[in-house]
Amino acid sequence: MNAPAKTEEFAVKIPDGVYAETVLDVEHYTDRLFRFRMTRPAGFRFRSGEFAMIGLMVGDKPIYRAYSVASPAWDEELEFFSIKVPDGPLTSHLQKIKPGDIVLMRKKPTGTLVLDALTPGKRLYMFSTGTGIAPFASLIRDPETYEKFDEVILTHTCREVAELKYGFDLVEEIRNHEFLAEIVGDKLKHYPTVTREEFPTRGRITDLIESGKLFTDLGVPPLDPQTDRGMICGSSDMLKDTKALLEKAGLTEGANSKPAEFVIERAFVG
Ligand code: A2P
Repeated sequence: MNAPAKTEEFAVKIPDGVYAETVLDVEHYTDRLFRFRMTRPAGFRFRSGEFAMIGLMVGDKPIYRAYSVASPAWDEELEFFSIKVPDGPLTSHLQKIKPGDIVLMRKKPTGTLVLDALTPGKRLYMFSTGTGIAPFASLIRDPETYEKFDEVILTHTCREVAELKYGFDLVEEIRNHEFLAEIVGDKLKHYPTVTREEFPTRGRITDLIESGKLFTDLGVPPLDPQTDRGMICGSSDMLKDTKALLEKAGLTEGANSKPAEFVIERAFVG
């Protein structure tokens, strides 16, 4: 064990070989969703879109879950977007963190939602539901995404309108950012949809792909393996159904070791 880290109210035992970082900011969006930012260890390198194991000491045991890093690789801080599961072994505790608290992080990030896993293309689709937007929050703030693609389309589908706020804030932040605003220009298109409340764009993304409404709304041609690349992050069912539609359009799944036309990753917690 390392020396206990002091926080205002209690001392946390830190297991060997993991980072212990300080929470800087917490924002709650709904009773199911929140984000937090924490310090970034000097030696922690990751590629935008990757995930890390995030944890807390619960009693005298650490509990970890996979979390996509939502901040881009260049950011001095780390951001995460999380669900709150009332009985969740980690999130029932994590949802209570406050600035100054200590969060654990294992040292090695990994993941398939990285630009290196895709072959070159013109248009990059990022399909997300719920907290599946997190890896894309990282990638849409990374200038490399816009060096590699002429157009970046972020779709985010949630049950309720309030759950879209993280995505809206993110896009707003990019549009007002001193450096990113110019790099991103009009290349980024945000396509939010809602399934269980009134909203201008309604429905599951899979239905909107199948009906062609997504493409008409955006004013782009249907999916084409010559030009289009995809990344998918959501629940297991959402991955399966979206993947089937991309494959039907002729795109093939890639990986770090074998780049191709689309990649998928489960939105882990929740
Ligand atoms: P729906 O409201 O029709 O279930 P969840 O919180 O269950 O992960 O859902 C997040 C969003 O993903 C919801 O809007 C949900 O729509 C949608 N969704 C759930 N399953 C699928 C699927 N198999 N394909 C596409 N979208 C899905």
